[in-house]
Formats: sequence, C-alpha cells, structure tokens
Amino acid sequence: MKFEYPLGSTPLEHDELADLIPNHITTQEQLNAWEEKNILKALPWAFKQKEIVSTEFICKLHKRMFNQTWKWAGQFRVSDKNIGVHWPQIAVKTKELCDDVQYQLNHESYSKDEIAIRFHHRLVWIHPFANGNGRLSRLMADLLITLQGQERFSWKMHQDLYKASAVRKEYIQALQLADRGDYTQLLLFARS
Ligand SMILES: Nc1ncnc2c1ncn2[C@@H]1O[C@H](COP(=O)(O)OP(=O)(O)O)[C@@H](O)[C@H]1O
Ligand SMILES: [Mg+2]
Repeated sequence: MKFEYPLGSTPLEHDELADLIPNHITTQEQLNAWEEKNILKALPWAFKQKEIVSTEFICKLHKRMFNQTWKWAGQFRVSDKNIGVHWPQIAVKTKELCDDVQYQLNHESYSKDEIAIRFHHRLVWIHPFANGNGRLSRLMADLLITLQGQERFSWKMHQDLYKASAVRKEYIQALQLADRGDYTQLLLFARS
C-alpha cells in the first residue's frame, strides 16, 4: 500500500496504519473515498449538537468521522508529528483552547467568524489526532459558526482540501500566516 502525503499533511506511522479497519484498501484514492463516506455519515449528527466546545466533544466528533476507518478514531495520538504539540501535552492544550474559545464567545472578543477561524487554526496546530485533524478542525469551525446563527464556511468551495492542489497550497499558506498571528488570509479563504 502506498500513500501520498500532500503538502502540510502528517505521515502516518506504521502502527497507526496497521489500525486501518477496512482490509480491502490498497490505494490512497480508495482510502480518501472511504474516509469521505465515513465523514458524510457523521454530519447529520454533528450539526444537531449544541454543546461542542469541549475536549469530550472533539474526541466524540473525531470518532464519528473516522469510526469505520481507524481503530484509534477519537483517541489522541501517542507519538509526535511534524506539526502539533508534543503528544503528552495534547489534553492540556485542547482544554486550554476550549476554555479560551468559551471565554471569547462569552465576551465577544472577536467577530463570530474570527472566533471560529482562530479555533480552527489552534486546533489544527495542536494536532490532537494521528490523522484527520484538518477535516475535523474545519468541521469544528463550521459547527461553531452555524451555532452562532451564521452560514457555514465555504473554504473556497473545496470539501477535499486534504488532497494536494493549488487551493490546498493557498490554504496552508494562510495557516502559516496565522501561525504568525495574522488571520486575515485564513478569514478570507474560509469565506471565499
Ligand atoms: N503550517 C501549518 N500550520 C498550521 N496548520 C497546518 C500547517 N500545515 C498543515 N496544517 C494543517 O494540518 C492538516 C493536515 O493534518 P492531517 O491530520 O493529515 O489532516 P487531514 O487528514 O484532515 O488532512 C492540514 O489540512 C492543515 O489544516
Ligand atoms: Mg491526513
């Protein structure tokens, strides 16, 4: 089995791959399609949830998105990646993030879009799981913004940002700007 890793993705470890649930998958294409189907099944449930800003919910959502794909769905990673915090810090950092976002919502610290986009960026920066962090964090931003009564983000009309493309490159560049505290590009990207 050969997997490609588009720019800004986190290669999977051998034992993480061993935990792939379907046993017929031999190509990246098949894996992408399988994951997509798994995620689609999670959406109706996800958009009905009201309390989403918690570690518990983040794990539950990851589990729903990938429960037919990875045995470790919903469980934090236990090794380090090229992005993300040192793995033993994931729980603490995720809780800190949720507390901060709750505070920002209560105090209207930023616009609704900016609170959701900052949340997206910080969650993907923590990188709690071995895979699926981009898709999980974009969905979290979508859930948060719709709960605020706003429209879902468009992410430049790309539901498949996890695949290599020029649009993905633009997205990763916007994230890298956000790493330096500048959210303007990421805000624009999410609404274009
Ligand atoms: N420099 C960066 N700064 C912040 N986030 C990044 C950076 N590079 C990549 N990412 C995020 O990491 C994601 C890839 O992680 P991964 O766990 O493989 O998610 P997925 O499988 O959903 O694509 C990208 O979609 C992007 O959101
Ligand atoms: Mg990935």
